[in-house]
Amino acid sequence: MRRSVIAGSGSEIAPNCVTNDMLAGIMDTSDHWIRERTGVETRYFVSPGKATTDLAEAAARRALDQAGVTAGDLDLIVFATMTPDRYFPGCGALLQARLGCRRVPSFDLRQQCTGFLYGLQLADAHIQAGMATHVLVVGAETHSGFMPWGPGSWARLSGQPDAPLAEGEHDNNTRFRHLTVLFGDAAGAVVVKAADGEANGSGVIDHVLYADGADADKLCVPGVGFRHRPYVDAGQVDRCEYVPVMHGAHVFKLATTHMAEAAREVLARNHLALDDVSMVLMHQANLRINEYVQRMLAIPPSKVLHNIQRYGNTTAATIPLLWDECVRTGRLKSGDLALMVAFGAGMTWGAALVRA
Ligand code: ACO
Repeated sequence: MRRSVIAGSGSEIAPNCVTNDMLAGIMDTSDHWIRERTGVETRYFVSPGKATTDLAEAAARRALDQAGVTAGDLDLIVFATMTPDRYFPGCGALLQARLGCRRVPSFDLRQQCTGFLYGLQLADAHIQAGMATHVLVVGAETHSGFMPWGPGSWARLSGQPDAPLAEGEHDNNTRFRHLTVLFGDAAGAVVVKAADGEANGSGVIDHVLYADGADADKLCVPGVGFRHRPYVDAGQVDRCEYVPVMHGAHVFKLATTHMAEAAREVLARNHLALDDVSMVLMHQANLRINEYVQRMLAIPPSKVLHNIQRYGNTTAATIPLLWDECVRTGRLKSGDLALMVAFGAGMTWGAALVRA
């Protein structure tokens, strides 16, 4: 039986650490509020001039190394991101050139926090169809570009706590505090490889994916885009319409409901139970969302790894980061079953079962 095995993984975290106390230096917030409501303690941002493809390249090279595969062996790249280096072309082609791959097809996926699961399904489908043997699936984000912070704020976050803020800058930063405290910059990558094996052997077992655009405006970037002519102008920037809108309580409710449903569905249709699962890898949007889902599904804490405390919400990168950390620290060993679950803007959601 042809199977899609995750043969290697890699991560890259942006270099510049920002603590909650540092954020409290540029807006009205506190370490206490952020930890209690979101679980986030630190997040990391890229240096000016660096972007999503830079993080992705580093993560991809580690994944290739671990898989024992060269860039020349790849015959498909699937790149999930909502924060591409440029409006176009997409990051997939940029990464293809960076890695020195052959001129292989390179997809960009825009399913936000569910992007990695959509990418894994696409990789699995290509492998099952005999169209690919080695697929690189990347989830990478540079959220720092969403931050409506001026040069004074960035200077304060870069080790100059007394840097002056422009008039109104502190108030503007506070206006977006419910959102900006959540996110960080990072990349995760896996190499998915075709292999022959038993039905219950290593590899992707199954996945469920969903989308429902009815609530799209509850979590979106409201301003820039081709509904406007030109697609971005100074007024949109002045009004900070490039910053995502998030109806937090609504997203919380949808995320908990759909993540629990998707997890139950993929287990049930494979006649598996949580007892069979070694690790549950949940998208890291908010620690409280995940704790709620854990209670709904009665998942023991020993079967869950959270890293939102360290990295914040890294959207498409969260699940490959968790997978990589679990493999490198021995929490996922060969033969262990992982359940991946995500919910994100779109709205999109899904779950996957993968045996390490
Ligand atoms: N620091 C201090 N106070 C804050 C902050 C902050 N960073 N952010 C909001 N507040 C204040 C608000 O101003 C408000 O004050 P008020 O009552 O005086 O008006 C109060 O805290 C409550 O604000 P809400 O926005 O209602 O905060 P809520 O309790 O809903 O928590 C949160 C916000 C944590 C984002 C929550 O809604 C949530 O977890 N939502 C889920 C969405 C999510 O996590 N999305 C992640 C990205 S999307 C994804 O990956 C799926």
